[in-house]
Amino acid sequence: MKSAYWAPEKFANDLRQELGSAYAGEYGSLILSLEPAKDLVWAHSVWRNPVRLEFTSIGDGAKKLRALRNGPWALAPFENHRRGSLIEEQTRGGRKPPPAKLSFLSPRRSALGQFLLVEPGVMIAASDTSSWVPQGEPTFDESSEAPSRAYLKLWEWFTIEGIHPREGETCLDLGASPGGWTWVLANLGAQVTSIDKADLAPHVATMPNVTLRRADAFKMKPEKLDWLFSDVICEPRRLLQLVHEWRDSGLCRNFVCTIKFKGETDFKVLREFLEIPGSHARHLFHNKHEVTWWSLSEEMRERAK
Ligand SMILES: C[S@@+](CC[C@H](N)C(=O)[O-])C[C@H]1O[C@@H](n2cnc3c(N)ncnc32)[C@H](O)[C@@H]1O
Repeated sequence: MKSAYWAPEKFANDLRQELGSAYAGEYGSLILSLEPAKDLVWAHSVWRNPVRLEFTSIGDGAKKLRALRNGPWALAPFENHRRGSLIEEQTRGGRKPPPAKLSFLSPRRSALGQFLLVEPGVMIAASDTSSWVPQGEPTFDESSEAPSRAYLKLWEWFTIEGIHPREGETCLDLGASPGGWTWVLANLGAQVTSIDKADLAPHVATMPNVTLRRADAFKMKPEKLDWLFSDVICEPRRLLQLVHEWRDSGLCRNFVCTIKFKGETDFKVLREFLEIPGSHARHLFHNKHEVTWWSLSEEMRERAK
């Protein structure tokens, strides 16, 4: 085993497909791989170089984890939960655990070590993971003002990546109704143009920095913009064409889009999205059968550092 991936149960099959012949078994939601870690789209968290540790007591388990790295460690749920929680607590050495829920744009913490108990005296542990929240699955102190739950996708992406539009930047929000994404962007102080044939919730439509254009997202001509967002429900290939058109225009260099799948996941079109230089895609905790694809200018990527 050279790497392991935490995958939501519903999409474990997609992750197994991504792994192909590197697949080496699984413990609950943790899927093991024979190959070095990669950024897999369906993984919520990537565990690099995990090891199998045997231990004789809770204290011994915590000591062995601390020998790998001096915290913080997070237990991934599987079996022997009580025993695992006590080990996790001991690795903290009396420090308080971080709050279970994040607030929007809470500062990023250092990446966690993560472990899972496969038997009462055996664990899989990785001191180097991709996540700074357990399992890469953030939950938030939610807002009652957002007009739809879709806002949580942007909250998650902005908070986890540590990047977001700043005051005065121009954003196009394609497929904006009822306005969850527009509400997030406008609250950041961005100038938002929302595109949909349907309405925005009145309290979003009347925000001073929001303009609604009742238009077809696919008939828009590219214009100069800082960011293009899309949560339009459409065939992935239509979205891919739209992204190419806007990128080729050179008028916008920052894209955050939801690719939505109906039925089976279309891996071919996903690969075509990822062939766009410098782009990434990841299934967010708040995504349904869809993934978030993004491509950012160098200047924007610098913001995350
Ligand atoms: C999942 S909803 C978007 C939710 C929204 N992001 C939010 O946060 O509230 C998808 C939206 O895409 C819109 N839509 C579908 N086809 C469209 C098109 N061709 N042009 C513009 N909007 C479209 C639908 O009307 C629907 O409001």
